[in-house]
Amino acid sequence: MAVEPLRWRGDRLELLDQRFLPDKTLYVTCRSAADVATAIRDMVVRGAPAIGCAAAFGVVLSGGSSEGYAALAKSRPTAVNLFWALERMKRAKDLEAEAKAIFEEDLAANRSMGKLGAELIPDRARVMTHCNTGALATAGHGTALGVIRSAKEKSVSVIACETRPYLQGARLTAWECVQEGIPCTLITDSMAGHLMSRGEVDVVIVGADRIAANGDVANKIGTYSLAVLARRHGIPFYVAAPLSTFDAAIADGSQIVIEERPADEVTGYRGTRWAPQGVGVRNPAFDVTPAELITGIICEKAVVLAPSREKLQPLISTGV
Ligand code: MRU
Repeated sequence: MAVEPLRWRGDRLELLDQRFLPDKTLYVTCRSAADVATAIRDMVVRGAPAIGCAAAFGVVLSGGSSEGYAALAKSRPTAVNLFWALERMKRAKDLEAEAKAIFEEDLAANRSMGKLGAELIPDRARVMTHCNTGALATAGHGTALGVIRSAKEKSVSVIACETRPYLQGARLTAWECVQEGIPCTLITDSMAGHLMSRGEVDVVIVGADRIAANGDVANKIGTYSLAVLARRHGIPFYVAAPLSTFDAAIADGSQIVIEERPADEVTGYRGTRWAPQGVGVRNPAFDVTPAELITGIICEKAVVLAPSREKLQPLISTGV
């Protein structure tokens, strides 16, 4: 059965509650923009393109009210797809048709990235990925995991980093791979360098939450470390993201707002605490990988090798 992270029902939005995966498949029903904003904030739905799609349907539920826009815009700060979708909805005449178009276009973009990206993946490649960038994080198919899906007939296998602290890799990517019959090996994030040093990784591919005009990429915390390691070991490092993730207004990665999430995600998990009371905690949810560490960015229109402001500019200005 295909994974359905969002189900639009005409008068309500049903969201697969990703907090309970892989143990339970439960849907949360949203009847207002405030419900959708809460679901985004609380990680019921996550992943940059899926957040954008959910926000668009949230606007439909609010009838385009300014309160609805304000609530949705405050839900999470880093993924630009949210703000891109809200801007698009502000310009729309038929809100429901526009939200459906945003959803369908994301699905089509993912399939296109899959096709373009699969050509970069060698036969039998062992592909390391981070966080969850699959059907759950998008309107369907996925970005980085979509490329892996599209390369399935090349007998690829996945090395999924667990993605501390929220475990999107262990809970969601591993689940999607198992469902789809893609061979997948789960590792903790700290094992990545060791596997690379032993020649056990052929390519790294990740998604993005916001790409600055110069090609710097904000993505799930830990992505930057993987890019540094990949460069050290001469392993290609690709980013797959639709044009809705590009932010032409941001010159470079230093200007991207990085969400800081609650301390209890680091001090424990699902009610179990392992750190002492009183310890200081940092929990930045994303980091920035400089463009110079990126072998190529795969979007729905093209693969941009050695990304730079000059190479990305024509795509950004025509694409959005
Ligand atoms: O905090 P999350 O789970 O929303 O973070 C998701 C990621 O960082 C993904 O890699 C990114 O959104 C790309 S998803 C296609």
